Amino acid sequence: MDTKQLQILWAKKYQVVPKQLEKVKKISAVATAFNTNIDAVVKISGKQLKKLLDRYKISETELQNIKLTSFREPKDALIAIVKCFSRGIAEEWTTADISVYEWLKQEIGYDRLQMGGQGGIIANAMALLGIKKVITHTNSHPELQAKQFLDLDNLLAFDVNGQLKKATEIARNEPPMIHWIIEFDKGDNFSLGDKTFVCPKSNRFIATYDPLNMNLAVNQHFKTYLNSHKVSYLLLSGFHPLLKENNGLKLIKNIVPVIKKWQKANPKMIVHLEVASTQDKAIRKAIIDDIAPISQSIGLNERETLDLLNVLGKKALSQKIEKEMTASNLFEALLFLKNRLKTPRIQLHMFGLYMTLQDSSFPRSADDNLKGMMTASVVASSKAYNGALAKYQDLTATLGQSVSEVGLKELSSLAQKLKTPELLEKGICSVGDYTLSATPTILVEKPKTLVGMGDTISSISLVCGR
Ligand code: GLC
Repeated sequence: MDTKQLQILWAKKYQVVPKQLEKVKKISAVATAFNTNIDAVVKISGKQLKKLLDRYKISETELQNIKLTSFREPKDALIAIVKCFSRGIAEEWTTADISVYEWLKQEIGYDRLQMGGQGGIIANAMALLGIKKVITHTNSHPELQAKQFLDLDNLLAFDVNGQLKKATEIARNEPPMIHWIIEFDKGDNFSLGDKTFVCPKSNRFIATYDPLNMNLAVNQHFKTYLNSHKVSYLLLSGFHPLLKENNGLKLIKNIVPVIKKWQKANPKMIVHLEVASTQDKAIRKAIIDDIAPISQSIGLNERETLDLLNVLGKKALSQKIEKEMTASNLFEALLFLKNRLKTPRIQLHMFGLYMTLQDSSFPRSADDNLKGMMTASVVASSKAYNGALAKYQDLTATLGQSVSEVGLKELSSLAQKLKTPELLEKGICSVGDYTLSATPTILVEKPKTLVGMGDTISSISLVCGR
């Protein structure tokens, strides 16, 4: 089959999406935890970046082969931006130093505020899908945070007295947690000395000063609620801002019994862990060692996959992927992670393709999962197209568009590598004891937003897989 024919075949498969969007409305409750914050989003151009580098006297040598992964001082934000800009990658650095926050406010500013944090972003998406009740964990919920929630009756959080209330109507007397999201565009460039820096892929750098999420502050009302109320899914994230030097390992250890207690009260609940970009290697390892084993599902992107490989002693494989970011190479990593972590379901999303490896005992079939992933592809590309998911119609803005050629190409070479030709047309095949489902995705030419894309893909794939 040629590309056109494959696109027609996949378009037929994608026709199931509206049905999935109907089915998902039957879910009675889901919960999201732990990180909800406010994102201050700003677009930076090569020109502006160059001006700031000059002003802060950052030399070309400092920008060569940047190894820095955390702040030494506020102006290191500029080095981080250049690192992400010139490689087209996404990184998030966390800091306990308030001067970084002050510096960003003064020097970078922002264009707009929006919902931030996996917990918050996923909660908005789940509520928009029409799940009957979405319970969101917030460790800070002042009016400014409340404003970032969609104005929906099924989107709930706890007020200061522990009452479950519409999230937009809560105004707890707490400080807002604001993260800087600095976006840049593919093709943009600047020159410094005799070097030109060109951005190969639109992406973003996140600078996070967030004392509550950095300390995994848990809302007691949320904690007690899940001990006695049933939810079908718990969508979990928020470990990535923790730092070893800030007691992060202990915080992770302490949260395990809390989650286990929720699971005991809720044996059918599916716990999904969204890995997220975690700079601190000790924390990354603790997420794998402590949180992955109590999760039934994991979601990650290609960079997060590399990060995990690097703390699991798979340097050679990670270097191979770094060189060639193909579905075949990434699949090798996915299989390694599946064997190593033993989590019943792991989903990896890359540019143009999503793939999931799952056990046959996972409570949703691979076929359902494929439908979930196609739904996620529509919703995520619609988000990229619209710039946000604000009203119900926004969910399906790209429905009917062809799946990407890159995605098909990747899927085709993966099918060849695995010697499972059926994968290309069916989207499903067996790999040893596991089932692999994979879908080429719809890609938007000029995405209006990228932040929170992974969270949307993972959560929608999971809940719409039914
Ligand atoms: C991280 C960031 C948050 C952002 C989110 C997007 O949680 O801390 O600011 O909204 O990632 O995925």
